[in-house]
Amino acid sequence: MEEKDTSLATGCESPTADASNEAAQSAQTPNAGGEVGKKRSSFTGKIGFVLAAAGSAVGLGNIWRFPYLAAKYGGGIFILTYIILAVTFGFVLMIAEIAIGRKTGASAINAFKKLHKKWAFLGILCAVIPIIILPYYSVIGGWVGKYFFTYLTGSGAAAAGDTFFSSFIASPWQSLLFFALFVTVVFVIVLFGVEKGVEKTSKFLMPALVLLTIGVTIYTLTMPNSLEGVKYYLLPDFKKFSIGTVLGALGQLFYSMSLAMGIMITYGSYMKKENKIESSVHQIEVFDTGIALLAGLMIVPAAFVFSDGSPETLGQGPGLMFVALPKVFQTFGPVGGGILGALFFALVLFAALTSAISLMETVISIVIDKFRLSRRKACLITYIGTLLLGIPSALGFGAFKKVSIGGMTILDMMDFLSNSVLMPIAAFLTCVFIGYVIQCKTITDEIELNGKFAMKKFFNVMVKYVCPIGIAAILLTSILDVAGVFKL
Ligand code: PFF
Repeated sequence: MEEKDTSLATGCESPTADASNEAAQSAQTPNAGGEVGKKRSSFTGKIGFVLAAAGSAVGLGNIWRFPYLAAKYGGGIFILTYIILAVTFGFVLMIAEIAIGRKTGASAINAFKKLHKKWAFLGILCAVIPIIILPYYSVIGGWVGKYFFTYLTGSGAAAAGDTFFSSFIASPWQSLLFFALFVTVVFVIVLFGVEKGVEKTSKFLMPALVLLTIGVTIYTLTMPNSLEGVKYYLLPDFKKFSIGTVLGALGQLFYSMSLAMGIMITYGSYMKKENKIESSVHQIEVFDTGIALLAGLMIVPAAFVFSDGSPETLGQGPGLMFVALPKVFQTFGPVGGGILGALFFALVLFAALTSAISLMETVISIVIDKFRLSRRKACLITYIGTLLLGIPSALGFGAFKKVSIGGMTILDMMDFLSNSVLMPIAAFLTCVFIGYVIQCKTITDEIELNGKFAMKKFFNVMVKYVCPIGIAAILLTSILDVAGVFKL
């Protein structure tokens, strides 16, 4: 393991500076103390970096969010839009963020400031986004926890009932309880610094989740009407295309790949100079998109098997995974279905935990950087703040049901605000910053430190023209669309 100095010394110990622990170093979460620590640790080799970044990227965004957006926004046309955006906007932004992080050796809040004093505000904007996401991410984590608990206690059959999900999320004490439990588990892991253990375990559990997903997908595809679902999911129907499809896909891209919120800057700050940024980004993208596509292939056809792909089911949003999958598990009978359900939700819970840990670490590092607090105090403040901020989202389907804008619940609003408004703005500003303030060369030089940057020309054109104009156009049209100025 290599250690490099940063100029951000504030006296905190580098949490991952255990030189003897090579294995743990290979998949660590860059965490709060590390950012401000005197010595900065780095990932062991390229694969360590790719695994750690993918560990943060793969989470509920892939398994829960991608399938319901694909179902809602027309199936194949959403997939096509998403893939085009992933290999263009996604690629460019991830390259840029990792290079900014590696160049500055700092996380977002300090990285922009280091590159240009007047642009410190962009670091702050990036920092606000995880603060909004973590609470509602934890509400969904709580839902997964509830399903895991239900299967574990042998009530899997009930989970397949038509009203199980809606009555659960409408029950104030239940959604609050499972949300609070989820946040508390994340908090305890982060407070006692046992992330390395969790991440080591995730090296086995993530492949297990992928294998189980493949198994369930193959099984679902043998059921009647599933092929209709596959066609809906994979064949683009251009009549279903709208600005909503593009905005939905763009927001999902940022969310799923942990972009436009400073996370990849932090990961980049831990990357060794001799590792290649470009090929790492290709690998993370393939990993993240592959798992999302697979999860959709499991969930969307299931919606056709059990409800004929009715518009209500496809368009139901956040509940899709929780409604569709228990019905698949149910067909294995009480015992088989119970075991399968418990296993599946345990693995999803784990993926949600690893992502939530990296989100909480990010928020903690912001609190430490901004308020110069000890790690312990910052952990506590983040924990209490997350609990408080998550309460409205947790109650948004029951006690606070009346609070809604344009049919959006509070959780939907938080999701919309972060993914469809703030992240596109942060991404737009990042491109302007690179293309016109520090110039593309600053970034491409960093990428070329260890070899050729094959997509350099593409990167320059994208950062200077296509991405900022494209993102601004998408954002503006959708704002006008939401405001009802014109309908697309
Ligand atoms: N990319 C994660 C997912 O798809 O679930 C969400 C996420 C995790 C965002 C960690 C940000 C983060 F720091």
